[in-house]
Amino acid sequence: MKVISGKTLKDLNDSEIKRILGAYRKVEIDLGTGDGRYVYKNANENIETLFIGVEPIQKQVENYSRKSQKEKLSNAMFVLGSIEYFPEELIGTADKLTVILPWGSLLQSITNPNYEKTPLISTILKSGGICEIVLGYSQEHEPTETERLDLQNLSEEYLKSAVIPIFEKNKLHLTEIKSLNKNDLKLIETTWSKKLSYGKDRPLYLLKFKKMLN
Ligand SMILES: C[S@@+](CC[C@H](N)C(=O)[O-])C[C@H]1O[C@@H](n2cnc3c(N)ncnc32)[C@H](O)[C@@H]1O
Repeated sequence: MKVISGKTLKDLNDSEIKRILGAYRKVEIDLGTGDGRYVYKNANENIETLFIGVEPIQKQVENYSRKSQKEKLSNAMFVLGSIEYFPEELIGTADKLTVILPWGSLLQSITNPNYEKTPLISTILKSGGICEIVLGYSQEHEPTETERLDLQNLSEEYLKSAVIPIFEKNKLHLTEIKSLNKNDLKLIETTWSKKLSYGKDRPLYLLKFKKMLN
């Protein structure tokens, strides 16, 4: 597994990974973490939990990974990976998985049933683990991207009829669905949620799932 530390990529072997995972009461994984602000902020406030940000673009997490290292925040970790190439060492390790404001193929794999990767999302979690997804897009404001990713109009009805049933089929039981507004985004500690809280109005949803016991 490749761990990002500023501009450096370090290979961790299985026993090192096991030792780190075993040192914490809980593990939270943030998939598509972007610049890693979510991991950094939460790791600071919950020192008994290991926060792992998974991101395909190393450069994105450079600053927060360097900052975490400087501040000796040993419960913040940044890993190179994506939903397509998810580090197998992290399968079955998460008490909680967050996906906040996904874009590109990550958004497509959640909201377009033809490209869904829900089985993978489910396997990242331990039994009883929680998955929280915050997503939003608008065909009006992002016509090129929604066409490229072949995304349908986003609505609660669409999520309930086309997306949530796939999660349920993969042992992820819906515990909450909530429409969010721009003010709600201000409360989420990520760079994109802050950015979009001042952007155009668009449909935004919070979805929470619990992984059913095996
Ligand atoms: C809009 S940004 C949101 C970043 C962060 N979660 C936030 O809220 O600030 C979307 C992120 O998804 C990542 N991403 C895109 N495709 C992905 C994929 N297939 N797997 C994992 N992450 C992906 C991008 O690199 C980017 O960092």
